[in-house]
Formats: sequence, C-alpha cells, structure tokens
Amino acid sequence: MNAAKTDSQIVVAGVSKVFATGGREVVALKDIELTVPAGQFVCLLGPSGCGKSTLLNAIAGFSPPTSGTILAGGQPVVEPGPDRGMVFQEYALFPWMTVADNIAFGLEIKRMPKAQIAERVDALLRTLSLSDFRNRYPKDLSGGMRQRVAIARVLALDSPIMLMDEPFGALDALTRRNLQDELLRIWSELKKTIIFVTHSIEEAIYLADRIVVMTYRPGTIKRDLLVDLPRQRDPAAPEFNALKRELGLLVMEEQQRHAADELKLAAVD
Ligand SMILES: Nc1ncnc2c1ncn2[C@@H]1O[C@H](COP(=O)(O)OP(=O)(O)O)[C@@H](O)[C@H]1O
Ligand SMILES: [Mg+2]
Repeated sequence: MNAAKTDSQIVVAGVSKVFATGGREVVALKDIELTVPAGQFVCLLGPSGCGKSTLLNAIAGFSPPTSGTILAGGQPVVEPGPDRGMVFQEYALFPWMTVADNIAFGLEIKRMPKAQIAERVDALLRTLSLSDFRNRYPKDLSGGMRQRVAIARVLALDSPIMLMDEPFGALDALTRRNLQDELLRIWSELKKTIIFVTHSIEEAIYLADRIVVMTYRPGTIKRDLLVDLPRQRDPAAPEFNALKRELGLLVMEEQQRHAADELKLAAVD
C-alpha cells in the first residue's frame, strides 16, 4: 500500500469554538495554535471536558470552529474528506456486513475495481491479524477485534492523516497494549500523521512523539512537549515514570477544575 505522502501537515490557527446551550455559553476551545508536521504522532491529553473531541472533530471537518482556520495538507478544512480518516471509541461498524465487507465498504463507495478491492482487503486482514475472521459479523467479535476492523477500515482508504478519538478507551489493559503496538507498527510503516485523543497519561507517553496537554474550560493548550524517549518504550523505565509524574500534575490540575465546575453547576441546578 502506498501511503499518500503528499504533505499531510495540519495547521490549526487561532481556533476557538463556543457552544451555546440552554442560555449558557461553553467555550470549548480558545485560541488554539497547533502545527503538526507530516508523519508526527501527536496525543491530545486532558481530562474529560477539555475540548479534545471538539478539536479533533474540527480537524475532521465534522464541526467547524466558531473562529480561526484549519489546514490539512495545505487545504482549508471545510468538510470531512478522504485525506482524514477517523477512528472513534465506539466501533462504528455496519452490523449487517462481514468483517471483509466492512473494510471494503469505503473502497466500493470510491468505485475501486473489484480485484483491487479484494487485494487491499486481503492485505489489511493480514496486517491486523484478522484473516481468520473475514467472514464473521461484528457481533461475534470481541471489542479488541472490532476495533481492529475499525482501524483496517480507515487504513483501507489510505488517508495520510488519521484522527483517533480514545479508540482504545473501552478495551482491557492487555488488548489495549496489543493494539497500541499494532498502531505504532502501522504508523512507522505507513508514515501517517496521527492525532490521537486520550485521557490516559501512560497511553500518551507510550505512543506519542509529542503530547499536547489541554486545559479545562476554556480548552487551551497548557503544555506542548516532545517525548524523546527511545522506542520501543518501557513503561517501567525511570524516565517514563518521571514524565508520567510531571504530566500527572498538569492533568490533575485540570481534573480538579473540572470537578469544581461540576460542583458549582450542581449547586445552581
Ligand atoms: N454539541 C455540544 N453542545 C454543547 N456543548 C458541547 C457540545 N460538545 C461538547 N460540548 C462541551 O464542550 C466541552 C468540551 O467537550 P469535548 O470536546 O467533548 O471534551 P473532551 O473530548 O475533552 O472530553 C465540554 O464542556 C462539553 O460539555
Ligand atoms: Mg471526548
């Protein structure tokens, strides 16, 4: 498979997003400036409610920012596009289609020739160790297997950019580590640009070239740091743990602001 190695840089400039609900305004994002070079693996890290999904959805083109601009591969983002594949936490698979058909779906929409589709689906089934499951239906698969299918389906489209919103959040620890390793292997082979949302500090350190920590309401960038630990990373290493401690303090501050906010809201209601 040839990853489209055209420029897959992402530029987020002066992006804010305000939600107005029930007479209240929530500033989900405020003045976000973020340039992600082609091929970088970035984790957006922060507790629930700090705008991670909002930022990812804006980059995906699902939900435009209130102000500011986003460029993907040099083009303004105005809608979802095949250059940006999205993987969600919940397995967005078609329950009535087999594993192979789920993976082929996007290619059929693109009217790729049948033989080419079959070849690509076969390759992806192999890449994600799904060959034995090609004729199964999603309901017969474990959570980890379903998420493999969801990843294969996005890879089928060969998008140079992958946007992932807590894709392993619902998985048990071992399955999660397994899929993290698969993802790193795929990323280093295919040279994709990845923005991966997580609230797990350890997951961010294990995966990312760079970690962007966000603040809770308004969502801003609190810390933007490069992770220069050699791969394959060892979560038991002292350097890993030192970084974990540092990030833990940053995230905890935001978590506390979140908790305080919820108490305040509860008092008003
Ligand atoms: N569609 C929406 N309408 C109103 N408020 C929203 C909407 N989506 C998100 N929010 C609010 O914006 C903030 C950021 O949400 P979100 O991006 O989902 O955070 P995260 O993904 O970091 O948990 C939260 O306070 C959330 O309540
Ligand atoms: Mg979210």
